Amino acid sequence: MSSLLPVYKKWGITPVKAEGAWLTAADGKEYLDFTSGIGVINLGHGDAEVMEAVQAQLGQFWHTSNLFQIPIQEEVASQLARLSGLDKVFFCNSGTEANEAALKFARRATGKTNIITCSQSFHGRTFGAMAATGQSSIHTGFGPVLEGFSYLPFNDLEAFEKAIDNSTAAVLVEVIQGEGGVIPGTESFLTGLTKLCQEHDALLIIDEVQTGNGRTGYPFAYLKYEGVKPDIVTTAKGLGNGLPIGAVMAKAGLEQACSAGVHGSTFGGNPISLAASRAVLAKISDEAFLAEVREKSAWFMGELKKIAERTPAIKDVRGDGFMIGLEIQAEAAPYIMRLQDKQLLALTAGPSVVRILPPLTVTKEELSIALEKIEEGFRIESVLS
Ligand SMILES: Cc1ncc(COP(=O)(O)O)c(C=O)c1O
Repeated sequence: MSSLLPVYKKWGITPVKAEGAWLTAADGKEYLDFTSGIGVINLGHGDAEVMEAVQAQLGQFWHTSNLFQIPIQEEVASQLARLSGLDKVFFCNSGTEANEAALKFARRATGKTNIITCSQSFHGRTFGAMAATGQSSIHTGFGPVLEGFSYLPFNDLEAFEKAIDNSTAAVLVEVIQGEGGVIPGTESFLTGLTKLCQEHDALLIIDEVQTGNGRTGYPFAYLKYEGVKPDIVTTAKGLGNGLPIGAVMAKAGLEQACSAGVHGSTFGGNPISLAASRAVLAKISDEAFLAEVREKSAWFMGELKKIAERTPAIKDVRGDGFMIGLEIQAEAAPYIMRLQDKQLLALTAGPSVVRILPPLTVTKEELSIALEKIEEGFRIESVLS
């Protein structure tokens, strides 16, 4: 019997090796891993540059504390500031922690408490991030939920226009709702939120935990839209390509509300994770790399749409870049198992969406193999139904 608390429903796969887009299990089976560790291994398993950077840092020192001058913190913070167009960075260890910090900073900086997020959003599991998450199933059993949060329908600008007022501290939103079912935010919604927040002195916080770090073919997904101007951006997952790290990026001025002692994290800004991040950010600063991600993912999405046209089980194909959801006619979970039988790993997103998150470094050949497996996996169902 397992000594692990059973908060995860585990698959029957024991990884022993992973390289690029491939994962080898203890029974010798080789899987095409289109989960990327749930949107984390953006540069593929065992990326050589990340490995080299981490090994070099391991040989120097692992951890001192945030009381010391750590040049790699300054370097990665300035990479993030340059890529996001924001100014100040706080390092932590996960997406939840990044959102938790962003919520605290927003309340402290504005002196206001009300925070609006979206129905079906996902922002994490601690009390603040959980309260921000617009899914009652995530709140169940943990009440009372932190006060001051309200939830409005995603992509419904009118609902936000009615609700935002001068008591609103912040609006927190994903560019593509990930866990909620891979639902892309529209440009008009996200641009509209920018304007509304500006009009009401509220902060726009964009959660790029899943969409960030090149996943959509941009360093951060909001950068695709010129009119979307966040005050705060949070990220994690792909930022360390598998090493735990999260970050909050904020507009200049926030530091006035965040003097020494206001917030902190023992492990936040750990040099080992930062060494990985520096290599990740160097890669996603390369426009040619990003252009290739956009090109490969657009081709893959086009091929998936063709499969959907001849496959009644698939209702919709959506997403952006390599963050893709297949909405299906039934429960998604059995399809995940069927794809696993074909040695392709994918995820669910909500009850009826199969979520596909290949590493950004995936080759067209690997994508073609996946397309065959997806078509076969879904064809069986269409024959049965
Ligand atoms: C959009 C978003 N925000 C926050 C989180 C929480 O991140 P973490 O699991 O690193 O705490 C997730 C995780 O799936 C996420 O997708």
